[in-house]
Amino acid sequence: MTPPSRTISRRPEGQPTRGKTASNRLRRVDNFLLLYEASLLTRTEGGFASSLFVDLGYGFDARTTLESAARFRRVNQGLKILGVEIDKERVEAALPFADEKTFFRLGGFNLPLKDGERVRLIRAFNVLRQYEEKDFAPAYERLAQYVLPGGLMVEGTSNPFGSIWVANLARRMDRGEWGMEALVFSTNFRMGFEVDEFQTVLPKNYIHRMLKGEAIFDFFAAWKKSAAETSAAKTFGPRQWFIAAAESLASKGYQINLQKKFLSKGFMIWELTTPKG
Ligand SMILES: C[S@@+](CC[C@H](N)C(=O)[O-])C[C@H]1O[C@@H](n2cnc3c(N)ncnc32)[C@H](O)[C@@H]1O
Repeated sequence: MTPPSRTISRRPEGQPTRGKTASNRLRRVDNFLLLYEASLLTRTEGGFASSLFVDLGYGFDARTTLESAARFRRVNQGLKILGVEIDKERVEAALPFADEKTFFRLGGFNLPLKDGERVRLIRAFNVLRQYEEKDFAPAYERLAQYVLPGGLMVEGTSNPFGSIWVANLARRMDRGEWGMEALVFSTNFRMGFEVDEFQTVLPKNYIHRMLKGEAIFDFFAAWKKSAAETSAAKTFGPRQWFIAAAESLASKGYQINLQKKFLSKGFMIWELTTPKG
């Protein structure tokens, strides 16, 4: 593993995109992370102690980064947080909110880390959506070099208020690459339960792949079938229907995490590799 060199003066990799955000848009993403693996925020072994949570592409102001800071520091008061933006004005707008453990820096996929800084968790939401599909793999590859083995990236797309989203969970492996651990589907049920709605917020590596013969296409076909087969559960509300459809999808051979702590909160996790212990 090569430690990243001082990158602060390098040209940020990527392109400025629309900066739209909203208060609490990413609350469910953070709540999911706390439920899925709170130790990502608290662990201290293997270089994690002083490592950073990075919010990549926080938008026209730093509200989502600051909201996460408050949320995550409930479990780790000393957590260091870095908001990264490729747009200079957005960094300037955020700087008044910086303090000794909250940083805002100009940067891109080549993270603007200082010597010795490493990353435990990256959240990149509604960033890659605005790129082309060909940019996905190089962006992931670049970001992997900064994350500690065992660290995670949650990268996905939401609707404007964050009530529905889909995200990749990528785990930094020992070899220095990402392992795609899961695809997470999240809803707060305000819009009921409609499988098609999730298609509109698929991350960049899937959204253009809704084509016959692609795994994601088959997955959605199976999920829609499961939803139709369990539609009687609708009587008990969208939450019960969502759970019943997930169970039916699992019975078709998809590796769905059936723990109630996730499903009852509107998180369906499609496990892509071996589930973590
Ligand atoms: C739509 S906003 C998302 C804001 C927030 N994450 C959210 O979900 O509400 C996307 C932001 O990502 C920034 N961005 C795009 N590419 C980037 C990159 N390579 N590195 C850092 N920021 C980037 C854009 O400048 C923009 O402000």
